[in-house]
Amino acid sequence: MKLLTILSTFLLLFGMATLFAANPNKVTINADQGKHQINRHIYGHFAEHLGRCIYGGFYVGEGNTKIPNTAGIRNDVIEALKNLNIPNLRWPGGCFADTYHWKDGVGPKQDRPSFVNRWWGGVIEDNSFGTHDFLNLCEAIGAEPYLAANVGSGTVQELIDWVYYVNHKEGSPMANLRKTNGREEPWNVKFWGVGNEMWGCGGNMKPEYYADELRKYSTFMTDWSNSDGLFRIASGASEDDYNWTETLMKEVPGNLIEGMALHSYSVIDWRDKGPATGFSEDHYFKTMQVAYKMKDRVEKHSAIMDKYDPDKKLALVVDEWGGWYDVEPGTNPGFLYQQNTIRDAMIAGVTLNIFNNNCERVRMANLAQTINVLQAVMLTEKDGTRMVLTPTYHVMEMYKVHQDATLLPAEVETSNYKHGDATLPAIHVSASKDKSGKIHISLTNIDPNNAAEVECELLGAKARKITGRILTAKALDAHNTFEKPDNVKPAVFKDAKLDGQTIKVKMPSKSVVVLEVE
Ligand code: AHR
Repeated sequence: MKLLTILSTFLLLFGMATLFAANPNKVTINADQGKHQINRHIYGHFAEHLGRCIYGGFYVGEGNTKIPNTAGIRNDVIEALKNLNIPNLRWPGGCFADTYHWKDGVGPKQDRPSFVNRWWGGVIEDNSFGTHDFLNLCEAIGAEPYLAANVGSGTVQELIDWVYYVNHKEGSPMANLRKTNGREEPWNVKFWGVGNEMWGCGGNMKPEYYADELRKYSTFMTDWSNSDGLFRIASGASEDDYNWTETLMKEVPGNLIEGMALHSYSVIDWRDKGPATGFSEDHYFKTMQVAYKMKDRVEKHSAIMDKYDPDKKLALVVDEWGGWYDVEPGTNPGFLYQQNTIRDAMIAGVTLNIFNNNCERVRMANLAQTINVLQAVMLTEKDGTRMVLTPTYHVMEMYKVHQDATLLPAEVETSNYKHGDATLPAIHVSASKDKSGKIHISLTNIDPNNAAEVECELLGAKARKITGRILTAKALDAHNTFEKPDNVKPAVFKDAKLDGQTIKVKMPSKSVVVLEVE
Protein backbone atom coordinates (compact mmCIF):
# COMPACT_ATOMS: atom_id res chain seq x y z
CA MET A 1 0.00 0.00 0.00
CA LYS A 2 2.78 2.35 1.04
CA LEU A 3 4.66 1.43 -2.13
CA LEU A 4 1.58 2.20 -4.20
CA THR A 5 1.21 5.65 -2.63
CA ILE A 6 4.87 6.47 -3.27
CA LEU A 7 4.53 5.23 -6.84
CA SER A 8 1.39 7.24 -7.57
CA THR A 9 2.86 10.39 -5.97
CA PHE A 10 5.96 9.94 -8.12
CA LEU A 11 3.85 9.45 -11.25
CA LEU A 12 1.78 12.53 -10.46
CA LEU A 13 4.85 14.68 -9.88
CA PHE A 14 6.57 13.28 -12.95
CA GLY A 15 3.46 13.90 -15.01
CA MET A 16 3.23 17.48 -13.81
CA ALA A 17 6.91 18.06 -14.41
CA THR A 18 6.65 16.73 -17.95
CA LEU A 19 3.64 18.89 -18.60
CA PHE A 20 5.44 21.92 -17.26
CA ALA A 21 8.60 21.19 -19.20
CA ALA A 22 6.58 20.71 -22.37
CA ASN A 23 4.95 24.11 -22.15
CA PRO A 24 6.34 26.53 -19.62
CA ASN A 25 5.40 29.57 -21.73
CA LYS A 26 2.14 31.11 -20.70
CA VAL A 27 0.87 34.60 -21.40
CA THR A 28 -2.24 35.94 -19.72
CA ILE A 29 -3.66 39.06 -21.31
CA ASN A 30 -6.31 41.14 -19.57
CA ALA A 31 -8.07 42.56 -22.58
CA ASP A 32 -10.55 44.65 -20.60
CA GLN A 33 -8.06 46.23 -18.24
CA GLY A 34 -6.12 48.58 -20.51
CA LYS A 35 -5.50 51.99 -18.95
CA HIS A 36 -2.60 53.61 -20.72
CA GLN A 37 -2.00 54.62 -24.30
CA ILE A 38 1.13 53.53 -26.16
CA ASN A 39 2.22 56.89 -27.50
CA ARG A 40 3.01 56.59 -31.20
CA HIS A 41 6.10 58.72 -30.57
CA ILE A 42 7.77 55.66 -29.02
CA TYR A 43 8.26 54.60 -32.65
CA GLY A 44 10.42 57.61 -33.56
CA HIS A 45 13.69 57.73 -35.51
CA PHE A 46 16.91 59.70 -35.47
CA ALA A 47 18.91 61.28 -38.30
CA GLU A 48 22.28 62.83 -37.53
CA HIS A 49 24.88 64.47 -39.74
CA LEU A 50 26.98 61.39 -39.25
CA GLY A 51 28.58 59.21 -41.91
CA ARG A 52 26.11 58.49 -44.68
CA CYS A 53 22.90 59.08 -42.75
CA ILE A 54 22.02 62.49 -44.22
CA TYR A 55 24.41 62.79 -47.18
CA GLY A 56 24.17 59.63 -49.28
CA GLY A 57 21.32 58.34 -47.13
CA PHE A 58 18.34 60.66 -47.02
CA TYR A 59 19.81 63.36 -49.21
CA VAL A 60 21.29 62.91 -52.65
CA GLY A 61 20.98 66.54 -53.72
CA GLU A 62 18.89 67.95 -56.50
CA GLY A 63 21.66 67.96 -59.08
CA ASN A 64 23.36 65.25 -60.98
CA THR A 65 21.99 61.99 -59.58
CA LYS A 66 20.32 58.94 -61.10
CA ILE A 67 18.44 58.33 -57.86
CA PRO A 68 14.79 59.41 -58.06
CA ASN A 69 14.24 62.13 -55.47
CA THR A 70 11.99 64.92 -54.34
CA ALA A 71 13.85 68.12 -53.48
CA GLY A 72 16.97 66.02 -53.02
CA ILE A 73 15.41 63.38 -50.71
CA ARG A 74 15.38 59.81 -52.07
CA ASN A 75 11.85 58.79 -53.07
CA ASP A 76 12.39 55.20 -51.91
CA VAL A 77 13.33 56.50 -48.45
CA ILE A 78 10.23 58.70 -48.32
CA GLU A 79 7.99 55.75 -49.24
CA ALA A 80 9.65 53.38 -46.78
CA LEU A 81 9.33 55.83 -43.88
CA LYS A 82 5.70 56.59 -44.70
CA ASN A 83 5.05 52.86 -44.59
CA LEU A 84 6.40 52.80 -41.02
CA ASN A 85 3.95 55.54 -39.98
CA ILE A 86 7.04 57.30 -38.71
CA PRO A 87 5.75 59.58 -35.94
CA ASN A 88 8.79 61.81 -35.37
CA LEU A 89 12.34 62.31 -36.59
CA ARG A 90 15.16 63.74 -34.46
CA TRP A 91 17.82 65.96 -36.11
CA PRO A 92 20.62 67.15 -36.53
CA GLY A 93 22.29 65.13 -33.74
CA GLY A 94 23.52 63.55 -31.52
CA CYS A 95 26.93 64.98 -30.77
CA PHE A 96 26.72 66.94 -34.01
CA ALA A 97 23.87 69.05 -32.58
CA ASP A 98 26.13 70.81 -30.09
CA THR A 99 28.45 71.90 -32.90
CA TYR A 100 25.68 72.99 -35.24
CA HIS A 101 24.87 76.62 -36.02
CA TRP A 102 21.54 76.54 -37.80
CA LYS A 103 21.90 79.92 -39.53
CA ASP A 104 24.78 78.47 -41.57
CA GLY A 105 22.30 76.01 -43.08
CA VAL A 106 19.66 78.40 -44.42
CA GLY A 107 19.67 80.77 -47.42
CA PRO A 108 21.28 80.21 -50.83
CA LYS A 109 23.25 76.97 -50.73
CA GLN A 110 26.25 78.40 -52.57
CA ASP A 111 26.70 81.02 -49.83
CA ARG A 112 26.69 78.62 -46.91
CA PRO A 113 29.91 78.25 -44.93
CA SER A 114 31.55 74.88 -44.37
CA PHE A 115 32.93 73.48 -41.15
CA VAL A 116 34.61 70.34 -39.86
CA ASN A 117 32.34 67.62 -38.50
CA ARG A 118 34.71 67.00 -35.62
CA TRP A 119 32.85 64.17 -33.95
CA TRP A 120 32.21 62.09 -37.03
CA GLY A 121 35.23 61.39 -39.18
CA GLY A 122 36.48 64.99 -39.42
CA VAL A 123 34.76 65.37 -42.80
CA ILE A 124 33.76 68.73 -44.23
CA GLU A 125 30.14 69.65 -43.61
CA ASP A 126 29.02 72.05 -46.32
CA ASN A 127 25.64 72.84 -44.74
CA SER A 128 23.82 71.97 -47.96
CA PHE A 129 21.21 70.08 -45.96
CA GLY A 130 19.70 72.50 -43.46
CA THR A 131 16.57 73.49 -41.58
CA HIS A 132 14.31 73.86 -44.66
CA ASP A 133 15.45 70.54 -46.11
CA PHE A 134 14.83 68.74 -42.83
CA LEU A 135 11.46 70.27 -42.01
CA ASN A 136 10.20 69.79 -45.58
CA LEU A 137 11.36 66.18 -45.37
CA CYS A 138 9.31 65.74 -42.19
CA GLU A 139 6.27 67.13 -43.99
CA ALA A 140 6.84 64.75 -46.89
CA ILE A 141 6.95 61.67 -44.65
CA GLY A 142 4.24 62.86 -42.24
CA ALA A 143 6.56 62.89 -39.21
CA GLU A 144 6.76 65.48 -36.47
CA PRO A 145 10.20 67.10 -36.39
CA TYR A 146 12.28 66.89 -33.22
CA LEU A 147 15.02 69.52 -33.32
CA ALA A 148 18.05 69.05 -31.07
CA ALA A 149 19.41 72.46 -30.11
CA ASN A 150 23.01 73.50 -29.64
CA VAL A 151 23.63 74.23 -25.96
CA GLY A 152 27.28 73.11 -25.84
CA SER A 153 28.75 75.65 -28.29
CA GLY A 154 25.72 77.77 -29.15
CA THR A 155 24.01 80.67 -27.45
CA VAL A 156 20.62 81.28 -25.93
CA GLN A 157 19.97 83.91 -28.61
CA GLU A 158 20.77 81.41 -31.36
CA LEU A 159 18.15 79.05 -29.97
CA ILE A 160 15.54 81.79 -29.49
CA ASP A 161 16.12 82.76 -33.12
CA TRP A 162 15.70 79.16 -34.30
CA VAL A 163 12.40 78.83 -32.46
CA TYR A 164 11.19 82.08 -34.04
CA TYR A 165 12.50 81.12 -37.48
CA VAL A 166 10.54 77.90 -37.64
CA ASN A 167 7.50 78.79 -35.51
CA HIS A 168 6.74 82.50 -35.64
CA LYS A 169 4.05 83.41 -38.13
CA GLU A 170 4.98 86.90 -39.20
CA GLY A 171 6.41 90.26 -38.35
CA SER A 172 9.50 89.16 -36.43
CA PRO A 173 12.96 89.42 -37.99
CA MET A 174 13.28 85.63 -38.02
CA ALA A 175 9.85 85.06 -39.61
CA ASN A 176 10.84 87.61 -42.26
CA LEU A 177 14.13 85.81 -42.87
CA ARG A 178 12.26 82.51 -43.30
CA LYS A 179 9.95 84.10 -45.84
CA THR A 180 12.91 85.59 -47.71
CA ASN A 181 14.34 82.09 -47.82
CA GLY A 182 11.21 80.80 -49.51
CA ARG A 183 8.97 79.48 -46.76
CA GLU A 184 5.84 81.48 -46.08
CA GLU A 185 4.14 79.50 -43.32
CA PRO A 186 5.85 78.41 -40.11
CA TRP A 187 6.41 74.68 -39.57
CA ASN A 188 5.26 74.79 -35.92
CA VAL A 189 7.90 72.55 -34.45
CA LYS A 190 6.84 71.17 -31.09
CA PHE A 191 9.66 68.85 -29.99
CA TRP A 192 12.95 70.49 -28.94
CA GLY A 193 15.96 68.84 -27.35
CA VAL A 194 17.83 71.25 -25.07
CA GLY A 195 21.31 69.96 -25.88
CA ASN A 196 22.53 66.39 -26.30
CA GLU A 197 24.65 64.24 -23.98
CA MET A 198 25.64 67.27 -21.92
CA TRP A 199 27.62 64.92 -19.65
CA GLY A 200 29.86 64.04 -22.64
CA CYS A 201 30.17 65.44 -26.16
CA GLY A 202 27.73 68.25 -25.28
CA GLY A 203 30.27 69.89 -22.97
CA ASN A 204 31.31 67.40 -20.26
CA MET A 205 29.05 69.21 -17.81
CA LYS A 206 28.21 68.24 -14.28
CA PRO A 207 24.48 67.67 -13.75
CA GLU A 208 24.21 70.68 -11.40
CA TYR A 209 25.79 72.96 -14.01
CA TYR A 210 23.63 71.63 -16.84
CA ALA A 211 20.53 72.01 -14.66
CA ASP A 212 21.20 75.76 -14.54
CA GLU A 213 21.89 75.95 -18.29
CA LEU A 214 18.70 74.04 -18.94
CA ARG A 215 16.68 76.40 -16.78
CA LYS A 216 18.08 79.35 -18.71
CA TYR A 217 17.64 77.93 -22.23
CA SER A 218 14.16 76.59 -21.50
CA THR A 219 13.03 79.92 -20.06
CA PHE A 220 14.04 81.89 -23.12
CA MET A 221 12.63 79.39 -25.60
CA THR A 222 9.09 80.39 -24.71
CA ASP A 223 7.13 82.65 -22.39
CA TRP A 224 6.13 81.99 -18.77
CA SER A 225 3.15 79.91 -19.73
CA ASN A 226 4.80 78.08 -22.61
CA SER A 227 1.88 79.38 -24.64
CA ASP A 228 3.57 78.12 -27.79
CA GLY A 229 3.09 74.59 -26.46
CA LEU A 230 6.70 73.58 -26.96
CA PHE A 231 7.80 70.18 -25.72
CA ARG A 232 11.26 70.80 -24.26
CA ILE A 233 13.36 67.71 -23.68
CA ALA A 234 16.23 67.80 -21.20
CA SER A 235 19.44 66.10 -22.27
CA GLY A 236 19.22 62.97 -20.17
CA ALA A 237 21.31 60.34 -18.51
CA SER A 238 23.50 57.73 -20.06
CA GLU A 239 22.40 54.19 -19.25
CA ASP A 240 22.30 53.78 -15.45
CA ASP A 241 23.50 57.22 -14.40
CA TYR A 242 20.63 57.72 -11.97
CA ASN A 243 22.30 60.67 -10.29
CA TRP A 244 21.93 62.64 -13.53
CA THR A 245 18.17 62.14 -13.61
CA GLU A 246 17.82 62.75 -9.88
CA THR A 247 19.74 66.04 -10.03
CA LEU A 248 17.80 67.39 -13.01
CA MET A 249 14.48 66.38 -11.51
CA LYS A 250 15.44 68.07 -8.24
CA GLU A 251 16.91 71.25 -9.73
CA VAL A 252 14.68 71.99 -12.72
CA PRO A 253 11.09 73.11 -12.10
CA GLY A 254 8.46 71.04 -13.88
CA ASN A 255 7.16 74.04 -15.82
CA LEU A 256 10.46 74.37 -17.69
CA ILE A 257 10.63 70.95 -19.32
CA GLU A 258 8.17 68.44 -20.71
CA GLY A 259 10.51 65.50 -21.27
CA MET A 260 13.61 63.89 -19.76
CA ALA A 261 15.87 62.01 -22.15
CA LEU A 262 17.78 58.76 -21.69
CA HIS A 263 20.39 57.16 -23.95
CA SER A 264 20.87 53.42 -23.73
CA TYR A 265 22.64 51.38 -26.40
CA SER A 266 22.98 47.60 -26.61
CA VAL A 267 26.76 47.46 -26.66
CA ILE A 268 28.66 44.76 -24.82
CA ASP A 269 31.97 46.57 -24.39
CA TRP A 270 32.71 50.09 -25.63
CA ARG A 271 36.35 49.15 -26.32
CA ASP A 272 35.55 45.90 -28.12
CA LYS A 273 32.07 45.92 -29.59
CA GLY A 274 32.49 42.91 -31.86
CA PRO A 275 31.32 42.44 -35.42
CA ALA A 276 27.81 43.07 -36.75
CA THR A 277 27.81 39.75 -38.65
CA GLY A 278 29.71 36.48 -38.12
CA PHE A 279 29.46 36.86 -34.35
CA SER A 280 29.49 34.00 -31.86
CA GLU A 281 26.51 32.84 -29.81
CA ASP A 282 28.36 34.14 -26.76
CA HIS A 283 28.41 37.58 -28.33
CA TYR A 284 24.72 37.29 -29.17
CA PHE A 285 23.84 36.31 -25.62
CA LYS A 286 25.81 39.22 -24.17
CA THR A 287 24.14 41.66 -26.57
CA MET A 288 20.71 40.43 -25.49
CA GLN A 289 21.74 40.71 -21.84
CA VAL A 290 22.41 44.40 -22.43
CA ALA A 291 19.24 44.84 -24.49
CA TYR A 292 17.21 43.45 -21.58
CA LYS A 293 18.82 46.04 -19.28
CA MET A 294 16.54 48.60 -20.91
CA LYS A 295 13.70 47.35 -18.69
CA ASP A 296 15.65 47.94 -15.52
CA ARG A 297 16.88 51.30 -16.74
CA VAL A 298 13.52 52.75 -17.77
CA GLU A 299 11.95 51.47 -14.55
CA LYS A 300 14.64 52.97 -12.33
CA HIS A 301 14.76 56.32 -14.13
CA SER A 302 10.94 56.37 -14.02
CA ALA A 303 10.95 55.67 -10.29
CA ILE A 304 13.19 58.71 -9.74
CA MET A 305 10.91 60.83 -11.89
CA ASP A 306 7.90 59.54 -9.90
CA LYS A 307 9.42 61.01 -6.72
CA TYR A 308 9.38 64.54 -8.13
CA ASP A 309 6.56 64.17 -10.64
CA PRO A 310 4.02 61.72 -9.18
CA ASP A 311 1.39 62.73 -11.75
CA LYS A 312 3.72 61.68 -14.55
CA LYS A 313 3.47 64.99 -16.37
CA LEU A 314 6.98 64.64 -17.76
CA ALA A 315 7.74 62.02 -20.37
CA LEU A 316 10.77 59.77 -20.32
CA VAL A 317 12.20 60.10 -23.83
CA VAL A 318 14.65 57.36 -24.84
CA ASP A 319 15.95 59.38 -27.74
CA GLU A 320 18.88 57.10 -28.57
CA TRP A 321 18.72 53.32 -28.44
CA GLY A 322 19.85 50.34 -30.53
CA GLY A 323 22.68 47.88 -31.15
CA TRP A 324 26.19 49.23 -31.63
CA TYR A 325 28.97 47.07 -33.13
CA ASP A 326 32.30 47.51 -34.91
CA VAL A 327 31.98 49.27 -38.26
CA GLU A 328 31.98 47.15 -41.41
CA PRO A 329 35.54 46.32 -42.47
CA GLY A 330 36.96 48.90 -44.87
CA THR A 331 34.52 51.66 -43.90
CA ASN A 332 35.36 54.93 -42.14
CA PRO A 333 35.48 54.21 -38.36
CA GLY A 334 33.87 57.61 -37.76
CA PHE A 335 30.85 56.73 -39.92
CA LEU A 336 29.40 53.95 -37.71
CA TYR A 337 28.17 51.90 -40.67
CA GLN A 338 27.13 48.38 -39.60
CA GLN A 339 25.08 45.52 -41.02
CA ASN A 340 21.78 44.60 -39.44
CA THR A 341 20.78 41.02 -38.69
CA ILE A 342 18.24 38.83 -36.94
CA ARG A 343 20.07 39.78 -33.73
CA ASP A 344 18.99 43.38 -34.33
CA ALA A 345 15.44 42.20 -34.95
CA MET A 346 15.55 40.57 -31.49
CA ILE A 347 16.87 43.80 -29.91
CA ALA A 348 14.12 45.81 -31.61
CA GLY A 349 11.37 43.36 -30.64
CA VAL A 350 12.38 43.21 -26.98
CA THR A 351 13.07 46.96 -26.68
CA LEU A 352 9.79 48.02 -28.25
CA ASN A 353 7.94 45.59 -25.98
CA ILE A 354 9.70 47.17 -22.98
CA PHE A 355 8.72 50.66 -24.13
CA ASN A 356 5.11 49.57 -24.74
CA ASN A 357 4.92 47.96 -21.31
CA ASN A 358 6.25 51.15 -19.68
CA CYS A 359 4.20 53.53 -21.80
CA GLU A 360 2.78 55.42 -18.86
CA ARG A 361 6.15 57.15 -18.49
CA VAL A 362 8.03 56.29 -21.70
CA ARG A 363 6.17 58.40 -24.22
CA MET A 364 8.78 58.97 -26.88
CA ALA A 365 11.86 57.17 -28.23
CA ASN A 366 14.23 57.33 -31.17
CA LEU A 367 16.06 54.42 -32.73
CA ALA A 368 19.66 55.27 -33.64
CA GLN A 369 19.79 55.82 -36.56
CA THR A 370 17.55 55.82 -39.61
CA ILE A 371 19.93 55.19 -42.53
CA ASN A 372 23.48 53.74 -42.79
CA VAL A 373 24.35 54.43 -39.14
CA LEU A 374 24.22 51.98 -36.18
CA GLN A 375 20.96 49.97 -36.00
CA ALA A 376 19.63 51.41 -39.22
CA VAL A 377 16.27 50.60 -40.76
CA MET A 378 17.68 51.22 -44.24
CA LEU A 379 21.05 50.88 -45.93
CA THR A 380 21.98 52.59 -49.18
CA GLU A 381 24.70 51.68 -51.65
CA LYS A 382 27.75 53.88 -51.43
CA ASP A 383 28.47 54.07 -55.13
CA GLY A 384 25.20 52.86 -56.56
CA THR A 385 21.50 53.51 -56.50
CA ARG A 386 20.13 50.62 -54.44
CA MET A 387 18.50 50.78 -51.02
CA VAL A 388 17.72 47.85 -48.77
CA LEU A 389 15.37 47.47 -45.81
CA THR A 390 16.90 45.80 -42.76
CA PRO A 391 15.39 43.23 -40.34
CA THR A 392 14.97 46.13 -37.88
CA TYR A 393 12.84 47.97 -40.44
CA HIS A 394 10.56 44.95 -40.65
CA VAL A 395 10.14 44.75 -36.87
CA MET A 396 9.28 48.47 -36.69
CA GLU A 397 6.79 47.95 -39.50
CA MET A 398 5.21 44.87 -37.85
CA TYR A 399 4.96 46.69 -34.51
CA LYS A 400 3.39 49.86 -35.92
CA VAL A 401 -0.02 48.41 -35.00
CA HIS A 402 0.75 49.36 -31.39
CA GLN A 403 1.01 53.08 -32.18
CA ASP A 404 -1.56 55.00 -30.12
CA ALA A 405 -3.28 51.76 -29.07
CA THR A 406 -4.17 50.97 -25.44
CA LEU A 407 -1.66 48.82 -23.62
CA LEU A 408 -3.15 45.59 -22.30
CA PRO A 409 -1.63 44.23 -19.09
CA ALA A 410 0.06 40.90 -19.81
CA GLU A 411 1.57 38.41 -17.37
CA VAL A 412 4.26 36.20 -18.81
CA GLU A 413 5.67 32.90 -17.58
CA THR A 414 8.61 32.07 -19.78
CA SER A 415 11.17 29.38 -20.32
CA ASN A 416 14.80 30.42 -20.17
CA TYR A 417 17.31 30.82 -22.91
CA LYS A 418 20.33 29.17 -21.31
CA HIS A 419 23.88 29.95 -22.28
CA GLY A 420 26.63 28.46 -20.14
CA ASP A 421 25.63 29.19 -16.56
CA ALA A 422 23.57 32.23 -17.45
CA THR A 423 19.96 32.56 -18.50
CA LEU A 424 17.64 35.13 -20.07
CA PRO A 425 13.87 35.04 -20.51
CA ALA A 426 13.25 33.41 -23.89
CA ILE A 427 9.83 34.90 -24.50
CA HIS A 428 9.05 38.59 -24.30
CA VAL A 429 5.62 40.08 -24.94
CA SER A 430 3.51 43.21 -25.18
CA ALA A 431 -0.13 43.55 -26.17
CA SER A 432 -2.49 46.36 -27.08
CA LYS A 433 -6.01 47.08 -28.28
CA ASP A 434 -6.44 49.58 -31.11
CA LYS A 435 -9.30 52.00 -31.71
CA SER A 436 -11.21 49.49 -33.83
CA GLY A 437 -11.05 46.91 -31.03
CA LYS A 438 -8.42 44.67 -32.64
CA ILE A 439 -5.91 43.19 -30.24
CA HIS A 440 -2.25 42.90 -31.21
CA ILE A 441 0.22 40.70 -29.40
CA SER A 442 3.91 41.01 -30.21
CA LEU A 443 6.13 38.15 -29.08
CA THR A 444 9.84 37.53 -29.36
CA ASN A 445 11.57 34.21 -28.85
CA ILE A 446 15.21 35.22 -28.46
CA ASP A 447 16.43 31.62 -27.96
CA PRO A 448 18.55 30.88 -31.05
CA ASN A 449 18.40 27.12 -30.52
CA ASN A 450 14.91 26.18 -29.35
CA ALA A 451 11.44 26.66 -30.70
CA ALA A 452 8.80 27.60 -28.12
CA GLU A 453 5.18 26.79 -27.60
CA VAL A 454 3.32 29.69 -26.06
CA GLU A 455 -0.21 29.61 -24.70
CA CYS A 456 -1.84 33.03 -24.67
CA GLU A 457 -4.94 33.23 -22.59
CA LEU A 458 -7.20 36.13 -23.40
CA LEU A 459 -9.33 37.34 -20.52
CA GLY A 460 -12.13 39.85 -20.96
CA ALA A 461 -12.49 39.58 -24.72
CA LYS A 462 -14.00 37.21 -27.23
CA ALA A 463 -11.55 36.06 -29.87
CA ARG A 464 -13.06 34.96 -33.19
CA LYS A 465 -10.28 35.20 -35.69
CA ILE A 466 -6.52 35.22 -35.48
CA THR A 467 -3.91 36.16 -38.06
CA GLY A 468 -0.24 36.90 -37.76
CA ARG A 469 3.11 37.73 -39.29
CA ILE A 470 6.56 36.41 -38.46
CA LEU A 471 10.15 37.52 -38.97
CA THR A 472 12.80 34.85 -38.64
CA ALA A 473 15.69 33.22 -40.52
CA LYS A 474 17.93 30.18 -40.26
CA ALA A 475 21.07 32.03 -39.25
CA LEU A 476 21.35 34.39 -36.32
CA ASP A 477 23.30 36.81 -38.47
CA ALA A 478 20.99 36.52 -41.50
CA HIS A 479 20.69 39.93 -43.14
CA ASN A 480 19.67 41.69 -46.31
CA THR A 481 22.13 42.79 -48.96
CA PHE A 482 21.77 44.87 -52.12
CA GLU A 483 21.99 41.59 -54.07
CA LYS A 484 19.53 39.75 -51.80
CA PRO A 485 17.25 42.43 -50.38
CA ASP A 486 14.52 39.98 -49.35
CA ASN A 487 16.66 37.45 -47.54
CA VAL A 488 14.98 38.42 -44.27
CA LYS A 489 11.42 39.67 -44.57
CA PRO A 490 8.10 39.12 -42.79
CA ALA A 491 5.93 36.17 -43.77
CA VAL A 492 2.39 35.11 -42.99
CA PHE A 493 2.38 33.24 -39.68
CA LYS A 494 0.20 30.15 -39.58
CA ASP A 495 1.22 28.57 -36.29
CA ALA A 496 -1.25 30.38 -34.04
CA LYS A 497 -4.46 28.46 -33.37
CA LEU A 498 -7.49 29.49 -31.42
CA ASP A 499 -8.64 26.98 -28.82
CA GLY A 500 -11.54 28.56 -26.94
CA GLN A 501 -10.08 31.71 -25.44
CA THR A 502 -6.55 30.33 -25.61
CA ILE A 503 -4.24 31.09 -28.51
CA LYS A 504 -1.70 28.32 -29.02
CA VAL A 505 1.42 29.62 -30.70
CA LYS A 506 4.42 27.71 -32.00
CA MET A 507 7.33 30.10 -32.35
CA PRO A 508 10.50 29.05 -34.15
CA SER A 509 13.80 29.87 -32.50
CA LYS A 510 14.97 33.53 -32.90
CA SER A 511 11.69 34.85 -34.16
CA VAL A 512 9.45 37.89 -33.82
CA VAL A 513 5.71 37.29 -34.21
CA VAL A 514 2.88 39.83 -34.22
CA LEU A 515 -0.64 38.42 -33.88
CA GLU A 516 -3.88 40.19 -34.66
CA VAL A 517 -6.94 39.02 -32.78
CA GLU A 518 -10.43 40.05 -33.84
O1 AHR B 1 24.21 57.93 -32.31
C1 AHR B 1 25.59 58.17 -32.33
C2 AHR B 1 26.05 59.02 -31.17
O2 AHR B 1 25.83 58.32 -29.97
C3 AHR B 1 25.31 60.31 -30.95
O3 AHR B 1 25.81 61.33 -31.74
C4 AHR B 1 25.56 60.59 -29.51
O4 AHR B 1 24.54 61.35 -28.93
C5 AHR B 1 25.71 59.22 -28.90
O5 AHR B 1 26.84 59.13 -28.11
